[in-house]
Amino acid sequence: MDYSVRVKLDRILVNDQIPVDSDITVLGWVRTVRTSKEVVFINVNDGSCMANLQAVITEPDRFPVLKRMLTGAAVRLRGKLILSEGKGQKYELAATSVEQVGEADSTYPLQKKRHSFEFLREIAHLRPRTNTFGAVNRIRSKIAYAIHRYYQERGFYYIHTPIISASDCEGAGEVFRVTSFDLNKAPEIDSLIDWKKDFFAAEAFLTVSGQLHGELLATALGDIYTFGPTFRAENSNTSRHASEFWMIEPEMAWAELEDDMDLAEDFLKELFRFALEECADDMAFFNQWIEKGVIDTLEGVVNSTFERITYTEAIDVLKKAKQKFEFPVEWGVDLQSEHERYLTEQAYKRPVIVYDYPEGIKAFYMRLNDDEKTVRAMDVLVPKVGEIIGGSQREERHDVLEKRIKKMGIGDIENYSWYLDIRKYGSVPHSGFGLGFDRALMYITGMANIRDVIPFPRVPGWAKF
Ligand code: 4AD
Ligand code: MG
Repeated sequence: MDYSVRVKLDRILVNDQIPVDSDITVLGWVRTVRTSKEVVFINVNDGSCMANLQAVITEPDRFPVLKRMLTGAAVRLRGKLILSEGKGQKYELAATSVEQVGEADSTYPLQKKRHSFEFLREIAHLRPRTNTFGAVNRIRSKIAYAIHRYYQERGFYYIHTPIISASDCEGAGEVFRVTSFDLNKAPEIDSLIDWKKDFFAAEAFLTVSGQLHGELLATALGDIYTFGPTFRAENSNTSRHASEFWMIEPEMAWAELEDDMDLAEDFLKELFRFALEECADDMAFFNQWIEKGVIDTLEGVVNSTFERITYTEAIDVLKKAKQKFEFPVEWGVDLQSEHERYLTEQAYKRPVIVYDYPEGIKAFYMRLNDDEKTVRAMDVLVPKVGEIIGGSQREERHDVLEKRIKKMGIGDIENYSWYLDIRKYGSVPHSGFGLGFDRALMYITGMANIRDVIPFPRVPGWAKF
């Protein structure tokens, strides 16, 4: 069978590339079948775009298979592309041949009614065939492309950092262990597991971030970025946390915190512009069905200047707020999502970059300011989603970094010798950040739960499919 003769629906319905009266073959999945004695209408979708093509079949008795054809079936339709007389569509297929390639019976869960996102998560193996998840998965792919294009055009090299790592970059201890031991029979030494006998002859984890390795490459190649999966055993069952998520981490040698903030702002705006311009079809769907006004919001951000305030200023603003917070605000506390949302949604009504955080609440690698109380950290906060980017200027002074590692008690200094070495040999100021890919997608699409922008999400208590 020559499947390659098929015409993908986006060429017909989005790009107007197929002339009327062409004889075409369409392959796809049946969304609806409407039957009468004289005529049958089949709406078919092939995943290449949001829209369905309607096939019109006159004298349906010619095709006995129509009696068994239900929603969900895979079909091959051949016929002539014609202009539609019906409302709501430009083209139709006047079908001359109808074949069922793969049957679906009446138990197919995606019948015509609207399904809740909770229900669809239970059938994540089939939900890509719905309008919403078709759009989400298409835009995920396109934004990933836009990210590579953005960095490649600017001379950043794409680096693959290890997924199995012996260090916990964020130092938060939220790591998944990697071992080949049968933990019931693991060898012990002094009644503790003897990791020296394990596969890597050391404790090993799934990476929480590619940053530390990214720094090593940036201080050789200049500008680099990573784009890969990261893993966190953080037991937060929120709509914004996943245990497996994708992160983009640019790292620039010869760059300070201001350069880092400039890159973050420019990068986000470029992604939003790309979504508006290159994903118009799917964005129109999100704007109508998922979050009314999301297109206006993104356009607003593209044309805005992000607010930049220090952590100390942010605390002042929060203290003066009329709103009551569940978590009290005091200089030195970490900002909670309610605080982040107040800053972006109420106080400034646009993305806000908060920088110069207290050293006690940020990771060991951030550059200490001269006040010795704050570090050169920055978080980009956006309405609804909260923190979307976390980054910093890195501590490039060997002695200061060594002191901070010891002070923070994050383990044997020997384990960091390779990381300290780039501060010993040709150290340079360098900076970078991490954008949570899935959170960026939440913001772009208006989808309220991170579980619904990832094809197969992993969250506490859930790794099905
Ligand atoms: O702020 P984070 O922890 O920063 C880092 O990992 C740095 N090493 C990045 C760097 O400087 N190269 O994480 C960065 C971003 C967050 O702002 C958030 O968008 C996302 O990663 N993120 C998560 N996304 C989904 N689920 C989680 N559990 C996430 N944790 C962080
Ligand atoms: Mg962070």
